[in-house]
Amino acid sequence: MWDPGQYRRFAGERARPFAELTARIGAGEPRTVVDLGCGPGDLTVDLSRRWPGAAVHGVDSSAEMIEAARNLEEQPAISFELADLRDWEPACPVDVITCNAVLQWVPGHLGLLPRWVSWLSAGGWLAFQLPGNFDQPSHTALAEMAASPRWRSLLGASAFTRQAGDPAEYLDSLTAAGCQVDAWETTYLHVLSGADPVVEWAKGTALRPVLAVLDDAQAAEFLAGYRERMRKAYPARPFGTVLPFRRVFVVAHRPGDASAERGTSLVGRSGH
Ligand SMILES: C[S@@+](CC[C@H](N)C(=O)[O-])C[C@H]1O[C@@H](n2cnc3c(N)ncnc32)[C@H](O)[C@@H]1O
Repeated sequence: MWDPGQYRRFAGERARPFAELTARIGAGEPRTVVDLGCGPGDLTVDLSRRWPGAAVHGVDSSAEMIEAARNLEEQPAISFELADLRDWEPACPVDVITCNAVLQWVPGHLGLLPRWVSWLSAGGWLAFQLPGNFDQPSHTALAEMAASPRWRSLLGASAFTRQAGDPAEYLDSLTAAGCQVDAWETTYLHVLSGADPVVEWAKGTALRPVLAVLDDAQAAEFLAGYRERMRKAYPARPFGTVLPFRRVFVVAHRPGDASAERGTSLVGRSGH
């Protein structure tokens, strides 16, 4: 279960990669924009501000996230839909598809990419970004703790299946699908404030599947152990706590003339 409030606590740090990703999208006046895994919708609204003439549609499989996003639906050009991105498909060609910080939750997502390219109108853009930091202490500590005798029976390996490819893998796949591809990686050094900020960050994402299966007492015990490990791995310094965070970025452009007539109804054919 996602918690939009906890997720938004580090909104600035989470928005920056989205801004740097979408800055590389060269679309002038797209008519249709889809944000797959839109979460609480704040960044979907940014897309609508950049392209006020576009119909912008956010899709997410979390009822909590879509409920939060629907509070932002005041502009008529924005709509949100509860659906799993693995099943959803648009009812017309799309000029811009974005997918920010989502694909790490979708095993085998490389296989989805050619399908997404096939949805693009001629001249359309596909842009996605995902964390590539699963070898870092914030994640390895979770996996180690879950595998320990204390937690093994409660926390199966399923909570730790997140993964990202390297930029070169995405570049190969999308080039083979006929796109011009810009792929890169960046390691941000987030300087976080407050007590145990890495734990607070993880509560909005990586810890979510863990806490979902523990009762209150178990969750408190697990968090105490995780907090201790995070304090050692990411010590508080006089100016804050440094969280290095690697992210992978991909922008693919489908060549062609974008001026062809097309529809603007984005509501998915298999959405639910
Ligand atoms: C880390 S949040 C990112 C939200 C938003 N894109 C942002 O950058 O603020 C990940 C989102 O992906 C969604 N998600 C994960 N798997 C999904 C799937 N299979 N289909 C649709 N949404 C999915 C989650 O519900 C969650 O809202």
